[in-house]
Amino acid sequence: MYLTREEEKMLKGEMGYAKQVAMEILVALGEIYGAEKMVKISSAQVSGVSYKNLGEAGVEWLEELSRDGRVEVYTTLNPAGMDIERWREMGVSREFAEQQIRIIEAYTRMGIHPTLTCTPYLAGNKPSLGDHIAWAESSAVVYANSVIGARTNREGGPSALASALTGRTPYYGLHITENRAYSVKINVPNLRDEYDFALLGYVSGKLSKEKIPLFSGVESADQVELKALGAAIASTGGIAMFHIEGLTPEYMLPPLDRVEEIDVEERDLRNAAEELNDDAEPDLIFIGCPHASLEELIVIMQRLQGRIVKKEMWVCVSRSMKELAKQLGVYQKLEELGVKIVSDTCPIVAPITRLGVKSIATNSAKGVWYSRNITKVKAKIARLTDLIEDAVK
Ligand code: F3S
Repeated sequence: MYLTREEEKMLKGEMGYAKQVAMEILVALGEIYGAEKMVKISSAQVSGVSYKNLGEAGVEWLEELSRDGRVEVYTTLNPAGMDIERWREMGVSREFAEQQIRIIEAYTRMGIHPTLTCTPYLAGNKPSLGDHIAWAESSAVVYANSVIGARTNREGGPSALASALTGRTPYYGLHITENRAYSVKINVPNLRDEYDFALLGYVSGKLSKEKIPLFSGVESADQVELKALGAAIASTGGIAMFHIEGLTPEYMLPPLDRVEEIDVEERDLRNAAEELNDDAEPDLIFIGCPHASLEELIVIMQRLQGRIVKKEMWVCVSRSMKELAKQLGVYQKLEELGVKIVSDTCPIVAPITRLGVKSIATNSAKGVWYSRNITKVKAKIARLTDLIEDAVK
């Protein structure tokens, strides 16, 4: 693999310990995937923040890197295992909280912005069309590639951090234009809202597996719907990108030689909804997977029509979105109605089973998939309206 003089210096340890470790990770990755060189990046999004997933060994590794490691590009962080202000209310133990703070402090020492969100593009980390970036968090990766047209592979926590520390990533995969072409065309039925988009993502991820799909027949899609589609498709498939005919920036790229064509019908979406339903009474209603936007908060407020929520209901957001909602009075109104606006985390990365949660209801296909497979609780998907009616019952 060709390295510039500066990259060689990093690899030899002449620019410090952390950069050496980071360059070793990137060179190993580049060799596995046959990259000829590194490419400079403009931003990074690092995952691997919750103490629930990292454990003590992970904390120590980060602290070691943070002694001399400083990021070279604008870098943001994925959600942590707790709301850093409301962790006591969430029933998180002091011991867990202390370890979680150590992790965030180590990242912050490296110059990373502790945004603690899976929607960095709603929290100031917004690349431009054609930018090379190194993002972890599968839902954000899909959004960046598909909706923004920035270029990133599906990075893991260590490789995204290594890229942040060196300002580089190996040049392979979705950094190369030809690899961004679609090879499956999916004809879709009429889609009404983010719930339908999430179901479409769930079905299409299973159908297209690793192949990039082009969706045909989508008349319009807003940010919330695109976010739901991307999160779901990345959960059931190894997909890091999709195109939508007439809507996303690179849909006109010439396709690969052989294009498979698949019809997804209304009944496929309904079957998916049944599959994503454990039929258990939820003890937590969860909205904001990926983290909710201001528009979603406002829609929830409007649909509640002043009614008080009687079930535990979390809307997960980034800290910056929470601040914005506070400035506009949306936060206060929702909290008055009994909705908990939880920032910095979500029920998947927080230790919710220790809080007694056994069953979740959400409007996110990714939320159901991860609740079942990672958090190991029962889960079901429902439309936002139905979740709200259930919450006030
Ligand atoms: Fe974000 Fe948690 Fe969903 S990290 S994408 S809200 S599983």
